Amino acid sequence: MAQLGVNIDHVATVRQARRTDEPDPVWAAVEAQLGGAACITFHLREDRRHVNDRDAAALKEIVNVKLNMEMSIDSRIVAIAARLRPTQCTLVPEHRAELTTEGGLDVVRLARRIRPAIRRLRDRGIVCSAFIEPIREQIEASAAIGFHAVELWTGSYAHARTPRQLAAALNTLRESVDIGRGCRLEVHGGHGLTYRNTGPVAAIPGFSEFNIGHSIVSRAVFVGMREATRQMVELLRLHAP
Ligand code: PXP
Repeated sequence: MAQLGVNIDHVATVRQARRTDEPDPVWAAVEAQLGGAACITFHLREDRRHVNDRDAAALKEIVNVKLNMEMSIDSRIVAIAARLRPTQCTLVPEHRAELTTEGGLDVVRLARRIRPAIRRLRDRGIVCSAFIEPIREQIEASAAIGFHAVELWTGSYAHARTPRQLAAALNTLRESVDIGRGCRLEVHGGHGLTYRNTGPVAAIPGFSEFNIGHSIVSRAVFVGMREATRQMVELLRLHAP
């Protein structure tokens, strides 16, 4: 069964709406772990719009499951990650105006800039994952450049509006998982997954991790982080291939 990574960024987003000290994303990480999360995911953005350096350090202290840091390939952020040593770094594209990460990292085009970042992180014993679109060239380039894992962007599935679009997006994901496994990569998935749409993706054989944020934090507003996490873990279990 694929493991659940709970992305706690949006708890920090609510805190930053008032620039105060609550709700604390570190408390959310504790509750998510108590709910059965196998991984805590956070994104330390260059503009620190939600998670900040204090959160990253505190998460490193208190998270005793896998800690996954999403990050850009900017050398200052890479230096922070190399010092912090999370279990895993997921390299993502980052644009200042975006609401959330949009699409995947272009590993093919950016290979020259990505290579030194991976080398630095790998030297520190950090698992390296590339957040990419489910495209053969991107998957093969990720394997060739030295990533241990790819996280397939599930946005085209999440945004599909017709049964035909849904089926095509699922098919692309299924084929991409096989390509990734064929390249000896761990294959993760994430973006736009919710309690309503995760089932068919979780049923695809070969995924080992899903990183889910907005939907879990949204449900946590009503049922609490521990229960929201428990419900998503249960959903992954029910649909596991
Ligand atoms: N995976 C990656 C790499 C992301 O950037 C994000 C969004 O921060 C997620 C997963 C989670 O996406 P969502 O909030 O839509 O569940």
